[in-house]
Amino acid sequence: MHDMADLKPLGLALVGAGAFGDFCLAAFAEMPEVKIAAIVDVDLERAQQFADRYQAVPYQLLSEALKNNEISIVALNTPPFLHAAQGLEVLNAKRHLFCEKPLALTVEDGEAMIAAATENGVLITVDYVMRQNPYWQTAAALAQSGILGKLRHMDLANHAAGLSLPMDHWFWNASKSGGIWIEHGVHFFDAFSWVADQRGHVVGSQAFHRSDGAVDRVEAILQYGDVAAHCYHAFDQSGSTEQTTVRLTLEHGYITLNEWVPTALELSTTVMPELWKPYLPGTVEISEREVLAATIYEVRAFSPEGKSAVYKRSIQDGMLNLVKAIRDPRWKLMVTGEYGLESLRTAAAATALA
Ligand SMILES: NC(=O)c1ccc[n+]([C@@H]2O[C@H](COP(=O)([O-])OP(=O)(O)OC[C@H]3O[C@@H](n4cnc5c(N)ncnc54)[C@H](O)[C@@H]3O)[C@@H](O)[C@H]2O)c1
Repeated sequence: MHDMADLKPLGLALVGAGAFGDFCLAAFAEMPEVKIAAIVDVDLERAQQFADRYQAVPYQLLSEALKNNEISIVALNTPPFLHAAQGLEVLNAKRHLFCEKPLALTVEDGEAMIAAATENGVLITVDYVMRQNPYWQTAAALAQSGILGKLRHMDLANHAAGLSLPMDHWFWNASKSGGIWIEHGVHFFDAFSWVADQRGHVVGSQAFHRSDGAVDRVEAILQYGDVAAHCYHAFDQSGSTEQTTVRLTLEHGYITLNEWVPTALELSTTVMPELWKPYLPGTVEISEREVLAATIYEVRAFSPEGKSAVYKRSIQDGMLNLVKAIRDPRWKLMVTGEYGLESLRTAAAATALA
């Protein structure tokens, strides 16, 4: 057996060196398993600037970059409306796809991408960073363990910094972004179906329009088997006032994840510590209070690292998982193209019902 770090790094092309592409490139550059070989951007100056930084080759066109035999993996960081066409181009050129969310804007396009991956014998993964986040992983493991009883309800309140996005940003144009459910909701639909280990079914949904006509708030109620769920996404805060709170209600406890990239998990439960303690990562603080002759444990597991370090490692772990699956066919991808498609189906249903 070889140590992965001893193997030749896989050549990586990043397409769309924008705001998030910049962050992803910095994350990939630290990984011995991949080598940034090409940067593609319609804005050739931008491609050149990042190519200089990472000693890669700049391209304006994806089709040109795909002629470069050094490339095994393409990280697709363009705006959502380009994912299907560019993703298909990548897969048909027999390159593995690390796709930013959403997989595509329509279910049909997502299905075509999955079919193309199978036909060409290559892999798709979607950058669902929550699947790689230690606190989301703990929440999912605790919910599925049965230690805290059955999962009853999942609630998301996402008050994001829409005010920092200019009015002409592609995000506000549903034909480019897919709208809030498809551009952003997919993360949480995927996370909820993972935590509940059930497919999501949208029962009802509503959308709220800003004075200029753009949708800036959406809300839905869903069922994941017999688990009730509620999602509210608003893009009406500034960078300094944004908040994300996920609350999971179980028969014998409440789990709370704060922030879009959680760096802590809170648990409030009557269940004895020896059962849940082994699940908790990072530093753990426990206090006790008595309520009606019962002991309630108030628990906080947290990381001293900031959001940025945890976020970066989640992206790296997603890429590492893809590299492992490319090298070993028995390795199971943590986020498959099917997960990307399933959450897209839920998002499309929420969009249609609003
Ligand atoms: N997983 C996450 O946590 C996360 C976080 C933020 C953004 N995203 C996703 O990342 C993607 C990019 O978002 P962003 O905020 O960086 O967007 P952005 O607009 O800042 O960047 C997009 C880049 O793509 C380039 N581009 C446009 N058309 C192109 C084409 N035809 N070929 C090559 N390049 C082209 C643009 O010039 C720009 O540099 C979106 O799908 C978004 O949903 C994911």
